[in-house]
Amino acid sequence: MTTKTHATAAASGANATERFRENKHIAAGTSQERVGTLAGRVIKAINETVLEEKVTYDEYNALKAWLIRVGEDGEWPLFLDVWVEHSVEEVANANRHGSKGTIEGPYYIPDAPSQNSPATLPMREDEPGTPLLFQGQVRNTAGEPLPGALIELWHADGLGFYSQFAPGLPEWNLRGSITAGDQGKFQINTIQPAPYQIPTDGACGALIAAAGWHAWRPAHLHLKVSAPGHQLITTQLYFEGDEHVADDIASAVKPELVLAPTERSGGKGREVTYDFILDPEE
Ligand code: DHB
Ligand code: FE
Repeated sequence: MTTKTHATAAASGANATERFRENKHIAAGTSQERVGTLAGRVIKAINETVLEEKVTYDEYNALKAWLIRVGEDGEWPLFLDVWVEHSVEEVANANRHGSKGTIEGPYYIPDAPSQNSPATLPMREDEPGTPLLFQGQVRNTAGEPLPGALIELWHADGLGFYSQFAPGLPEWNLRGSITAGDQGKFQINTIQPAPYQIPTDGACGALIAAAGWHAWRPAHLHLKVSAPGHQLITTQLYFEGDEHVADDIASAVKPELVLAPTERSGGKGREVTYDFILDPEE
């Protein structure tokens, strides 16, 4: 294991916990009745598992030790975003007619540097990876262009690491907030990200190893796309041919979200077009 991989796994989880505390506001006012219903169902499901599977004291104590470690490693955001968020997203976006959403994951940071389209994401001079031109148009569900739409794009580098979470990467590397042009059209130059392995040396990695699962997510672009009067969509885009598209540890791939880039005409690298359709505000 390289020094960088080692440092990343240890640091990314703790950083994700810090960021969550800074960015998210816990909705106040969830009713007592609702808390009782939800907490009651989760506790019941655990008890049913214990009874049906005849869980031993050794197993119960292993669970206790592991739960303590998840917190110590700062990996609750990782755990929840890999194994639970996909269902929350399914519920949240069930009534949309526009583009498909998927999970946000733990590595979004608001207010990345702004640029107008055409744009190039901030990257190192020698940023490893195949250049990728990502372009398209943002429209409403009636097919009308949405000028001035905002495309927030963030993704891992060519080794699968996210800036501001893994050490040694410049701030805002491969993160940007891009304003589309008159016709809602955008062109963004970046590099193709690598598949992402969730940190293997923390509590989540220990679970994956103990259960004999794999730790991979397919390579992906993360996006938040918005326009005045329309619902923001949080989504991800994947790449055809990636073996983990069919086998994502986070269960976040949908067929509509798989891109098929082609060789870039008259340039280096690859290009792909993807249009976003935004639902009107409710
Ligand atoms: C996790 C990481 C991601 O990059 C992502 O998109 C979803 C989940 C995680 O480690 O939990
Ligand atoms: Fe991700």
